Amino acid sequence: MEPSEEFLLKHKGFYFLPDLVTPEYIDSLEDFEIRDCDVFVVTYPKSGTVWTQNILSLIYHEGHRDGTENMEIIDRVPWLEYNIHNMDYVHRPSPRLFTTHLPYYLAPRDLRNRRAKIIYVARNPKDVVVSYFHFSSLSVKLETVPDFNSFLERFLAGKVLAGSWLDHVRGWSTHRDEFNILFLTFEEIKKDLRGAVLKICKFLGKQLNEKELDTVVEMAAFDKMKSDPRANYEFMEGNLLEKGKGHFLRKGTVGDWKNTMTVAQSERFDNVFKEKMKDLSLTFIWDIN
Ligand code: A3P
Repeated sequence: MEPSEEFLLKHKGFYFLPDLVTPEYIDSLEDFEIRDCDVFVVTYPKSGTVWTQNILSLIYHEGHRDGTENMEIIDRVPWLEYNIHNMDYVHRPSPRLFTTHLPYYLAPRDLRNRRAKIIYVARNPKDVVVSYFHFSSLSVKLETVPDFNSFLERFLAGKVLAGSWLDHVRGWSTHRDEFNILFLTFEEIKKDLRGAVLKICKFLGKQLNEKELDTVVEMAAFDKMKSDPRANYEFMEGNLLEKGKGHFLRKGTVGDWKNTMTVAQSERFDNVFKEKMKDLSLTFIWDIN
C-alpha cells in the first residue's frame, strides 16, 4: 500500500510532513549557515529524539536553572526542517541546539565539513517499528495504519515518515568521517543514563560537577520526563497528538517488540534487515534475535 500524499511529502527520496515544510525550504537547508558551536540531535523517528533533546538542553541550561524553566523542548532544541514556531534560526544566540530527522545527504553542507557537533542516536529497529506504530495511531499528522502487520510492511519498504530506517542509519554511519559526530544507541542510554550523559558532556567539552550531573540524570529519567510538561511533548496534544489516545512517552523500554511482534513477523523482519545490517559500520548493543 502506497503512503497517501495527504500525509507524506516525498522529496529527494525522503518522506516529510507536507503541511510543515516545502521542497524549497528543504533545499535551502543545504546552505544553512552553521556555527562551530551548533549542536544537532540527529535521529530516525522513535529512536530517542525527545530524550536526547532533553538531555542536551539540561546539560546546556544547567538543569533549566538559567532561563529555560518554562520553555518546551521544541523551543529549546527546535527542529531544523520543521520550524513550527517560526523562530529566527539565523539570529538565535549561541550555542544553538537543533534537532533533525534529515538523511545525511540533505543536511546543511557545512555539517559535512565537520563543523558543529552531531549526536546521532539509533535504536533497535524492532523497537522503533513498534513505537512508530503506536505513535502513528496517536498522531493527527500521520496516517493511521489499521494493523501492525500493514505498518510493518510499510516500515520495511521505507514508506513512512523519514523513509527507510536502514538507509538513515547506514547513510549517517558510512559517512561518519565527514561529520563531527557521536553515535549513541537508545539501549546504551537506557542501560547507563549517567554514563551516556558523561559521554555527551565529553563530546561537547562540557564539564558538569557531581550535583549538576545528578540533576541532569534525575530530570532525564523516563518517569520524570513523562510528568514534566516541558519534556513530555503533551503540549502537542490537539496539534500533533490526538487528545486522550495515549502518551508520547509511552513505555520507554528496551525489547518491547517482543510483546507485539509474532514469531513470523520477527522472522520476516530478520529476512529483510539482518543481512543488510551486516555491512553497517556500527556496533549495536542489542541482540537482533
Ligand atoms: P516507546 O514508544 O517505546 O515508549 P522519539 O522521541 O524519537 O520519537 O522516541 C520516542 C520513544 O522514546 C518512545 O518509545 C518514548 O517513550 C521513548 N523515550 C522518551 N524519553 C524517554 C526516557 N526518558 N527514557 C526512556 N525512553 C524514553
